[in-house]
Amino acid sequence: PARVTVPDLQQMKDEGRRITMLTAYDWGMARLVDEAGVDVVLVGDSLGMVVLGYDATTPVTMDEMLHHAKAVRRGVRRALVVGDMPFLSYQVSREEAVRNAGRFLKEAGCGAVKVEGGGAVVETVRFMTAAGIPVMGHLGLTPQTAAATGGFRVRGRDLASARRLVADAADLEAAGAFALVLECVPAALARLVTERLRIPTIGIGAGPGCDGQVLVVNDVVGLFDRFRPSFVKRYAELAPTVRAAVGEYVADVREGRFPDEAHSFTGEPPWLADLRA
Ligand code: KIV
Ligand code: NA
Repeated sequence: PARVTVPDLQQMKDEGRRITMLTAYDWGMARLVDEAGVDVVLVGDSLGMVVLGYDATTPVTMDEMLHHAKAVRRGVRRALVVGDMPFLSYQVSREEAVRNAGRFLKEAGCGAVKVEGGGAVVETVRFMTAAGIPVMGHLGLTPQTAAATGGFRVRGRDLASARRLVADAADLEAAGAFALVLECVPAALARLVTERLRIPTIGIGAGPGCDGQVLVVNDVVGLFDRFRPSFVKRYAELAPTVRAAVGEYVADVREGRFPDEAHSFTGEPPWLADLRA
């Protein structure tokens, strides 16, 4: 299948075709997600919470992200692979932002990167896109700064913050961002931003008015059950399935039901008597 490119996503918005995006963190899941036809695979820094066991995304490092991005890239044949830039990998200086983004492209083979925030981040995005790096923006609830800015709740609820979000979205587009994730914002606000922008919006907890949708794959298949954001739709319940399967395995091994003849290399080797001797 032909690879999904950054211009393809713009064409999808222009033609009114919705963009599908999911996270993945390793080769195995990336392969399944890609084979199921997702357009964009995000190696999210949600890695920290659903795979590495941190209780926030902020501890995630560039090295951790690259390690997983490389594995994901090996599993994806069709989708656009986007590397999520971790906390403090793009805030220190725009030079450092370009260097770190370049690692996602050159070392991990990603097709683009994503950064969180408007305001001061806009100039960094301009610098990155001028260097030829495809950048996806992310506004609304931005988990890397959520603790410092009011926690995990809906953003853009009052006029002032809605105005700021609309302005940040326009600024990111002008700075060269090729798409914009809108996380946890009122559906009406996400729809307005989507209508105003030329570039596609990808919603998560942002209603049906966006040009596309993203979720964390572990949430979608029910693998992550520490908590469930209200905007997540579960399409499978793998955590209980895995627990039950492993429980049966443990019982079978303990009680001698597994391994059995059917799962063993049976037969009497001709040298067995010699070996015993
Ligand atoms: O890290 C992540 O998974 C994300 C998406 C949920 C947008 O940033
Ligand atoms: Na993220």
